[in-house]
Amino acid sequence: MNLFQSLVIFLSFVAIKDVASMDREDFISDINVLRRDYANRFKVPNMHELIWSWGLFNILIPLEWGVPWPEARKTWRYLRLESYEGANTSTKNAAEKYFSNPYNRTDSYNELEFLNPIQRFYACIGRSEWIREELRGYCVCLVGTEGEFTIFDTSGNSKKVPGSECHKRYKNDNGLCVPNNKTEEWYDGHPQDILEDINQIRKVYSEKYNVPNMHQLIWSDDLLKNLQKMIWSNRFQDACVTWRYVHLDNYIKTSIESELDTFFNKIPLEKRLFIRNGSDTTLRSLEFLNPLQKFIACGRKTNSLIMVCLFGTEGKFTMFDYSNKSSEIPGSNCHKGYRNDSGVCVAIKPEEESYFGRQLDFMSDINQIRRRYAKEYRVPNMHELTWSNDLAEVLEHLHMTGVRAQAKKTWRYGAINTYDNIIYQIEKGVTFFFESNRTAKKIHIESLSKKDTMDRLEFLNPLQKTIACGRKEEEGGYRRGIYIICLLGPEGNFTIFDTTFQWQASAGSKCDKGYYNEDGLCIVQIPTQEPIIDYRKMAEEEKNKALTEEPEPEPLLENHGNGISLGYLLAFLLAKLLFNI
Ligand SMILES: *[C@@H]1O[C@H](CO)[C@@H](O)[C@H](O)[C@H]1NC(C)=O
Ligand SMILES: *[C@@H]1O[C@H](CO)[C@@H](O)[C@H](O)[C@H]1NC(C)=O
Ligand SMILES: *[C@@H]1O[C@H](CO)[C@@H](O)[C@H](O)[C@H]1NC(C)=O
Ligand SMILES: *[C@@H]1O[C@H](CO)[C@@H](O)[C@H](O)[C@H]1NC(C)=O
Ligand SMILES: *[C@@H]1O[C@H](CO)[C@@H](O)[C@H](O)[C@H]1NC(C)=O
Ligand SMILES: *[C@@H]1O[C@H](CO)[C@@H](O)[C@H](O)[C@H]1NC(C)=O
Ligand SMILES: *[C@@H]1O[C@H](CO)[C@@H](O)[C@H](O)[C@H]1NC(C)=O
Ligand SMILES: *[C@@H]1O[C@H](CO)[C@@H](O)[C@H](O)[C@H]1NC(C)=O
Repeated sequence: MNLFQSLVIFLSFVAIKDVASMDREDFISDINVLRRDYANRFKVPNMHELIWSWGLFNILIPLEWGVPWPEARKTWRYLRLESYEGANTSTKNAAEKYFSNPYNRTDSYNELEFLNPIQRFYACIGRSEWIREELRGYCVCLVGTEGEFTIFDTSGNSKKVPGSECHKRYKNDNGLCVPNNKTEEWYDGHPQDILEDINQIRKVYSEKYNVPNMHQLIWSDDLLKNLQKMIWSNRFQDACVTWRYVHLDNYIKTSIESELDTFFNKIPLEKRLFIRNGSDTTLRSLEFLNPLQKFIACGRKTNSLIMVCLFGTEGKFTMFDYSNKSSEIPGSNCHKGYRNDSGVCVAIKPEEESYFGRQLDFMSDINQIRRRYAKEYRVPNMHELTWSNDLAEVLEHLHMTGVRAQAKKTWRYGAINTYDNIIYQIEKGVTFFFESNRTAKKIHIESLSKKDTMDRLEFLNPLQKTIACGRKEEEGGYRRGIYIICLLGPEGNFTIFDTTFQWQASAGSKCDKGYYNEDGLCIVQIPTQEPIIDYRKMAEEEKNKALTEEPEPEPLLENHGNGISLGYLLAFLLAKLLFNI
């Protein structure tokens, strides 16, 4: 801060003393009285009470009078008052003058700005200036959230009912629209308004870029509850598994739209770099356009101006084809339970959709990933998991403390975020483990053994055979929130298969009694005959191929990729065999 700025701030405090001879609240209540009078006199249906906004005040503090304000007239407008005292009278005078002789201004209508019916917020600050060696005070006010100057129908011919067209969550009070709960209204936006606006924006982009799988977002109280329980920081630790996030300074539709415009006006290379840079954390407003997200929840930390929105259930950032060359049909590739409605995928029964997902596909997904790892690591005894009503009963009657206390006897437990995308969640949780060296693996297992769960590795314990899951609330620790807790039995001790590629066995060759090998997984039923695949031979072939071919570049625009390519895996496996890493 330089001397001049300090002086300005000092003077503005002086000015507050000089000018604010009237209390701020009195001054605005007189203005609101005037607004109500005009609403009734001219039958204005949408005249709102002006309420104080710290958000606008924060914008106002650094603004200097006399220099251009390019940010003005987007989501706020400004005016200058000579004093708070008599502001209602000077506003009335300005209005009467305007009614008899309307005029146009490009910058500010000054006091008349106070009569813009759809403005809902204001903030004012005292300032001062030297005029002919005399320090004179004045006030600057901002009103929001409208960028346009709108005056009501001043012809006197309006047939509308005062207070009949109030903003959401406002009610008619003698002709003036007043908020149901003042503390819930913010210049920066009400979280639940986002839903409507964002779905509107998603629809526009779906049509413009022929996006086949743009899903309409559903507000999720589950996600909101988790957001409220989380420990907030700039980078959420658990993000990018089943949810992604964005921090917002304000939530006003026009400012999100303009941030999106900025992205779409970039050249293709810049676009790609931008996406790559933020795909592990957050891509700002672009997160609103991730077509596969289905749930949203936004909230504000108490007393904070920063708002956060969470999107579920995708942890991975997916972008539609924004090359403007897509010839797909909007709404042609909807997820199960969703159907095309004017170019976006809309839930057929929204009340049945939930961030936590459905158990429906969960069992087959979990066995699919067990089979995959069994084949990759030649695990001879990886058993299929089947749902157990007995375990479900045990789980139902336990809180997290009980789960911890009773674990490791005839069952163990693991946590997942949702029933959906389970393959991605497990991969995300264990990949680093499988990719680390032998020492690091040992250290990891040892450190986890002291805890009551081996996290996602529990789901790959080959000897477990039964499972049951349910929602549980984690009360403490940095992982506060609601999770899906699964009990896995019958083993109380943890076992993980050999991940050093030393096994000479083949997948499914050592099933327990009563279990049969079906394509690498030990299952209860007698399997149907399947052709036997020789993975060693395939690996050999892949190696030859890998030696002659360039590795594939990592695709940037991925669709929910649940797997690394088989070729890559086999080459990787072979490298491990050859170099014994
Ligand atoms: C302005 O407010 C004062 C009370 O603070 C009131 O006496 C006066 O009549 C008001 N003037 C107008 C024009 O409404
Ligand atoms: C103000 O501008 C509007 C549109 O730009 C025009 O229709 C209107 O006649 C103007 N009014 C005056 C008083 O100049
Ligand atoms: C108004 O909203 C705040 C914040 O959501 C809440 O704490 C308070 O109880 C509400 N007041 C009333 C009267 O509903
Ligand atoms: C990359 O992201 C970081 C924050 O995550 C940001 O500070 C930086 O400016 C970004 N770089 C580019 C080129 O966008
Ligand atoms: C996309 O192409 C259409 C015509 O094919 C063109 O009118 C439009 O401006 C293009 N949009 C962008 C963002 O390039
Ligand atoms: C989805 O609806 C839009 C508008 O109703 C239509 O243009 C489009 O062809 C539909 N898509 C499919 C796949 O039917
Ligand atoms: C194993 O990995 C750890 C951590 O990645 C590393 O610090 C260590 O040097 C590695 N050990 C060997 C033998 O490569
Ligand atoms: C679990 O491990 C402990 C100690 O290593 C051992 O005493 C116990 O028999 C094991 N339990 C089972 C069911 O294998």
